[in-house]
Amino acid sequence: MNEASSRRGFLSAVVLLGVGGTASNAVAATPKSKPAEVNATEDLMREHGIIRRTLLVYDEFARRLGSPEEKAPAEVLAQAARLMQRFGEGYHEKTEETEVFPRLVKAGQQKELVQVLLEQHAAGRRLTASMLAATSGRDALTQPQPRAATARQLTQFTRMYRPHAAREDTVLFPAFRNLFDEKQFKELGERFEEQEHRLLGNDGFENALKEVEQLERALGVHDLARFTPSEK
Ligand SMILES: [Fe+2]
Ligand SMILES: [Fe+2]
Repeated sequence: MNEASSRRGFLSAVVLLGVGGTASNAVAATPKSKPAEVNATEDLMREHGIIRRTLLVYDEFARRLGSPEEKAPAEVLAQAARLMQRFGEGYHEKTEETEVFPRLVKAGQQKELVQVLLEQHAAGRRLTASMLAATSGRDALTQPQPRAATARQLTQFTRMYRPHAAREDTVLFPAFRNLFDEKQFKELGERFEEQEHRLLGNDGFENALKEVEQLERALGVHDLARFTPSEK
């Protein structure tokens, strides 16, 4: 079993555990044939999932920065920004910039959208660098002015990135997928997997997922059920 298929196997086992509830159910329900492969655009969209969860951490951190009595531990934001830098900017956006955008532009498609997306990647990197600078030092984010400035940057980042990722999911990635036939698209998916392993290590996605879960937990936004509106 290669690394990519072992990763998929791991993920399907996690899903089955979630549905079945016990390890024995999961084993019994494991299909005999190999699970369906994660394709290239599904991979990118799943990465958006990690990024969106980081945006949730940013939302909560910005909210806390806005209330002087709330704890806003600088190291939590530093870790979240480093995750965004490593996974979002250094890996996901890099894949878009090297594998996705140039192919669309070459095919004469989505040129204006690609230009905006590139400018937003650059703007996001500037904000991330600035937020990381704000979290360094012993008294980081304890004074009203830096708290307000960082809250503003967090809001600018999330306000930009949600529509950015949504436009990629709904317009850019479907256009990108249409450039390929089945065989080419499958090969591209394998290439994306290799790139992921090269840039992030063998468990890049799983490690990023664990890290964002820890960050959610650190700020108390990890319980999905708490986002369901009460009927009362
Ligand atoms: Fe992007
Ligand atoms: Fe993206």
